[in-house]
Amino acid sequence: MTELKECVFIDGVRTPNARAHNEKGWFRHVRPDELLTAVYGALFQRNPAIRPQDVDCVMVGSANLSGMQNDIGRMSWLASGLPDSVPSQSVSNQCPSGMTATMNGARAIMAGEADIIIAAGAEDMEKVAMAANMDFPPRLLKYYDMNELPMGSTAEKVAEQFGISKEDMTNFAVYSHKNAVIARNAGKWAGQIIPVMGKKEDGTEFLVDRDQWVRETMDEKKMNLMESPFKPGGRVTAATSSPLTAGAAAVLLMSRDRADQLGLSYTYKYACGVQAGNDPTVMGIGPIFAVRKLFEKTGLKPDDIGPIEINEAFASQSLACIRELGLDNFNAPFKRVNVWGGAVALGHPLGQSGVRLIVTLLNILKSDFPMEKYGLATLCGGFGNSNAVLIEKVK
Ligand SMILES: CC(C)(COP(=O)(O)OP(=O)(O)OC[C@H]1O[C@@H](n2cnc3c(N)ncnc32)[C@H](O)[C@@H]1OP(=O)(O)O)[C@@H](O)C(=O)NCCC(=O)NCCS
Repeated sequence: MTELKECVFIDGVRTPNARAHNEKGWFRHVRPDELLTAVYGALFQRNPAIRPQDVDCVMVGSANLSGMQNDIGRMSWLASGLPDSVPSQSVSNQCPSGMTATMNGARAIMAGEADIIIAAGAEDMEKVAMAANMDFPPRLLKYYDMNELPMGSTAEKVAEQFGISKEDMTNFAVYSHKNAVIARNAGKWAGQIIPVMGKKEDGTEFLVDRDQWVRETMDEKKMNLMESPFKPGGRVTAATSSPLTAGAAAVLLMSRDRADQLGLSYTYKYACGVQAGNDPTVMGIGPIFAVRKLFEKTGLKPDDIGPIEINEAFASQSLACIRELGLDNFNAPFKRVNVWGGAVALGHPLGQSGVRLIVTLLNILKSDFPMEKYGLATLCGGFGNSNAVLIEKVK
């Protein structure tokens, strides 16, 4: 057995997130593989020491590997004109898919089986709709009520079980947008967002360099009057849910040895990653189990961690996780959770989000928490699959 190697993050980029909408979405004419072409291209342009043919594998997460996203790892790489000598993986376990791809890549490097990996995630929830082509096994009915499995229903159930009010969720959403606007205006996203040509609602072409859903102004009163699209009399609304979104993101992972040979600089490495399963009818609380497992494995406690990125699939599930794990204040604003906003404002292109969270976390660590040793990224996934990843400053 060889000793485990260290896997460092050399770079990370993402496209802006656009609404996945066939009339209003800024990327309605762009395919998800084309969004990946933009992030692959940016990684090679920003890191000229790395040649495409030197990549050991490209691993791409997507929640729904059908239609335009079928084997998107291979298709996007070849369609980008990149060398066919580089193998690929298309990875899928619902929303954590991109984070799982990153974990797979980091583990291959740590095991000494690879030196350079691109781990990515992409999703266009309009062109490949959530659960499109899914054929549920009828035997699932023996174990679960099928009415409780859709994502919105799980968000309502979590809100009820954890006593999370509509007002608290609205407040959470307001801060998600507020933080995103503050971060954008301060230029915090500039280093990680790769502009992509898009189309405004009226058809005019323009270079998209920001996330489409982020709102400058919020009307809390109006938001509290919005009704649940998921349940009559429910508490979860379109304003407190992540929107249907399109986007791609990628990280460049490398063994520390190879990075040193190439004279590349790096600040953070992959420290640990875990998956946890839980009841699919409350899938959104999955990070509670994943983060607890990560703390057990590493011996760390919440106080040892600096910034935390938790995916905001819905305000209800994020709040339940933050409260149950004691990660931050009881209500927004938060001190270290999603300090540049989260998916309620930025969007959640399913399989992309796990990579987007890591890219955001790396930037937040460097910019806002430079003295912290650890950062944590976690997200829930449809049908009760969650991931958590720990990032550590290198010595
Ligand atoms: C909630 C959901 C059903 C709403 O979808 P939709 O009905 O297509 O609606 P939109 O997203 O366009 O928003 C509905 C309306 O609410 C409005 N709205 C949303 N947020 C708002 C806010 N903060 N303030 C005011 N209005 C708001 C929108 O502007 C829109 O109205 P408009 O069309 O007049 O502009 C959809 O976004 C959804 O399913 N989200 C969850 C996705 C999911 O499950 N992801 C996986 C998680 S694991």
